[in-house]
Amino acid sequence: MASKLDDFFEKVITVKLSRDRDRDSLDIIDQTLLPGTIKRINLHTKEEIWEAIKKLRVRGAPAIGCSAAYGIAVCANRIEADDFDSFYRTFKEIKDYLASSRPTAVNLFWALSRMDDTVQAHKDQPVEKIKEILFEEAQLIRDEDVQISRNIGEIGFDLLKELKEEGQELGIMTHCNAGTLATAKYGTATAPMYLALEHGWAGADMHVYCDETRPLLQGARLTSFELSNAGITTSVQCDNMAALLLKSGRVKIIFVGCDRVARNGDAANKIGTSGLAIIAKHYGIPFYVCAPSSTIDMDCPTGEQIPIEMRDPEEIKTMWYKEPMAPEAVDASFNPAFDVTDRELITGIITEKGLCHAPYDRAFEALGIGK
Ligand code: MRU
Repeated sequence: MASKLDDFFEKVITVKLSRDRDRDSLDIIDQTLLPGTIKRINLHTKEEIWEAIKKLRVRGAPAIGCSAAYGIAVCANRIEADDFDSFYRTFKEIKDYLASSRPTAVNLFWALSRMDDTVQAHKDQPVEKIKEILFEEAQLIRDEDVQISRNIGEIGFDLLKELKEEGQELGIMTHCNAGTLATAKYGTATAPMYLALEHGWAGADMHVYCDETRPLLQGARLTSFELSNAGITTSVQCDNMAALLLKSGRVKIIFVGCDRVARNGDAANKIGTSGLAIIAKHYGIPFYVCAPSSTIDMDCPTGEQIPIEMRDPEEIKTMWYKEPMAPEAVDASFNPAFDVTDRELITGIITEKGLCHAPYDRAFEALGIGK
């Protein structure tokens, strides 16, 4: 019998893949409408898929990877070609186009490369067979993501158990949304909390403080939506309240997600993460980055080389407001979507293969990451 938590996961599943459908579209929740409206949309063309990733209708590094994988399978299914070379030429065009949607989350490029490798590995097969195999590979990427975030959750849950005092609620903080909506099931930063529920904790055993996450409010709109729906005691606070909140002693541990981790452990995540890590270090609060190994870019030596996406100034001034919140003529062109948290600020990086501590390059290699 499906549990209440399973019903919840089914309700907010980000990317739905189906072997039975006629495979003409990618089915996602439109995250720009949350929390007010839960609406699924079907994306048929590469332009629709590109726009959905760019506009954050689907977002969060692993969910972007799953969408790109299934999206390219959908588009490839429509390629009219009898021979491999002409099929592959169009496939490559679609791949390059989807890869141009967002620059920071490495999972986008990772998933598209894996689909490309799959095509190459089956180049001797008939084109129609390759199309079938692409759907299977996309499904595999999604299934693997469920297991990856579950493993991350188990490791994070062990950390929670160490901190939990009998009869007391445990204060946990997170930034942006690295939750169910950002992955195939458990999220990364939220996985320890969902695993805690699966292992019998009540929602009231923990209290999750969600940073609102200016300017696109993923913490308020998405994380507080999903955690409260799952029955977890949840608060939302403005990002600039972090110092006072951490000083108060109410938060015992912080989990965040990431979009790309460099080989040395520098970790790019939603803008504001680095500031939170600095405050956490000051007040001695453990700060963990939850990172599927697909988000660790061993070809990127340090955070300096991670490309940071700059976004539309209107996200700061007008997008969420009835009236503009700054005069029209005022510059708001500095709108980076991500920042890089220096490795010295990170207590540990939780991967699905194990918990890593500095020096991170050696810890990643020891776990076989990047091989
Ligand atoms: O711009 P977004 O909303 O895609 O940014 C998302 C984040 O920064 C997440 O924390 C990250 O992708 C990890 S999702 C498991």
